[in-house]
Amino acid sequence: MAGAAQVQWSSRMAFIFAAVGSAVGLGNIWRFPYVAGENGGSAFILMYIAFVFLIGLPVLIAELSIGRRGGKSPIGSLGAIAKESAANPKWAWLGHIGTFGGGLGLLSFYSVIAGWVMSYVIQAATGAFSDITADAATAAMGEFTSNAGTVTFWHLLFIMVTVVIVGKGIKGGLEKAVTYLMPLLFLIILLLLGYSLATGDMVKTAEFLFTPDWSKINGSTALSALGQAFFSLSVTVGTMLAYGSYLPKDISLHKSGALIATADTLVALIAGLAIFPLVFAYGLAPDAGPSLIFKTLPIAFGQMPGGSFIATAFFVLLTIAAITSSISLLEPGVAYFEEKFGMTRWRAAIIGGAIAFAVGLMTVFSWNDAAEFLPLAWMGLEQLPNGKVANMGEIIDFTVSNIIMPVGGLLLAIFVGWFVSRDSMKDEMGLPEGGVFEIWHVLIKYVCPAALIWVLASGLGVF
Ligand code: PHE
Repeated sequence: MAGAAQVQWSSRMAFIFAAVGSAVGLGNIWRFPYVAGENGGSAFILMYIAFVFLIGLPVLIAELSIGRRGGKSPIGSLGAIAKESAANPKWAWLGHIGTFGGGLGLLSFYSVIAGWVMSYVIQAATGAFSDITADAATAAMGEFTSNAGTVTFWHLLFIMVTVVIVGKGIKGGLEKAVTYLMPLLFLIILLLLGYSLATGDMVKTAEFLFTPDWSKINGSTALSALGQAFFSLSVTVGTMLAYGSYLPKDISLHKSGALIATADTLVALIAGLAIFPLVFAYGLAPDAGPSLIFKTLPIAFGQMPGGSFIATAFFVLLTIAAITSSISLLEPGVAYFEEKFGMTRWRAAIIGGAIAFAVGLMTVFSWNDAAEFLPLAWMGLEQLPNGKVANMGEIIDFTVSNIIMPVGGLLLAIFVGWFVSRDSMKDEMGLPEGGVFEIWHVLIKYVCPAALIWVLASGLGVF
């Protein structure tokens, strides 16, 4: 199928940078270490890696293929493929859920966290963490999160950066940003890794990361591992469909997918290897949750020689990683607004950014003024299945990461495995019958749906 004549990535390298930039983000450096910490470390990590390659990667390859074949916005491409395969055009709704519920929904709280990260760049650079005690670090964190005005300010600033880059377009904005930022990101992360390996507590880290305790695994941890895999690979929210639609025909989809998944997983593991040695060396707890990098790490940074510099480098790294991801969260909505309403890119980016900003305010207020507000208490839901308090912020995070993403992945796998023409996928991937294509098709058709149904059901407490 000929895609609508439209912009394409200038080179394979530009695409890989953009896609890896999308995948590598807060998910790897902020979320992965604390979710692994909360779920007991190594057994969770092994399960996560299995999910990345057996479920996430097939879905990623499917999204790139549909995106490129459709050549439109995620919603448009899904519709085009459904049409080509004579499937029900309603499958395009999967794109609506991904683009709006997933992409913009995720961007709404992603940006709040990323704004927090940006504010810590200033804190770190001005030496606010030197010799900070555990109590002072807790207080500093509380001071930030309890002030709705400050949190909103940084959230807005981060959204504005995202909107400007996306507004400038694929070549002038996204590609330029990732070409400068990605090499810098790798440099900083390796620097931090070296520092941690040299000074941190490797023995405890190795024990924590590489000695599996299978008793820690249950339905809820499995669902977290799966949610983390999808979150980290940037699938099920339209991103990879959109990035796929800008791909030239001669680029191998399965090889690119494998490269993206491998790079993403390596960065998550490296982030763990950079963070936990410090956590253990300074006698801190690995299961601090989302505050791991905002409270625990500053304490470690505060005590080490050259800590202000290392801390600044760390939060700059995280800001960069967040920007190259947030632009990819906004892109599906922007592509859709342009296509559907004929909007200019700038207008589309501003509208998408404004939606994410407004929805993000619910997360902002759930940290302070509305922390006690439990919107689902009337139906007896004061706690989510993962044990978190059911305030607005946690509800949005849980709905996106543990429901929309896994359910979206499940429906996509069913669509591609059972309804999309096998031949057109084979043609798009440029592969002969058998071999790699056959493995991918078995995974997407049988393994992904079965595993997703099982994980979803057990994670949500169905059995
Ligand atoms: N993968 C990104 C991260 O790990 C988040 C993201 C999810 C980006 C979905 C785009 C789409 O931080």
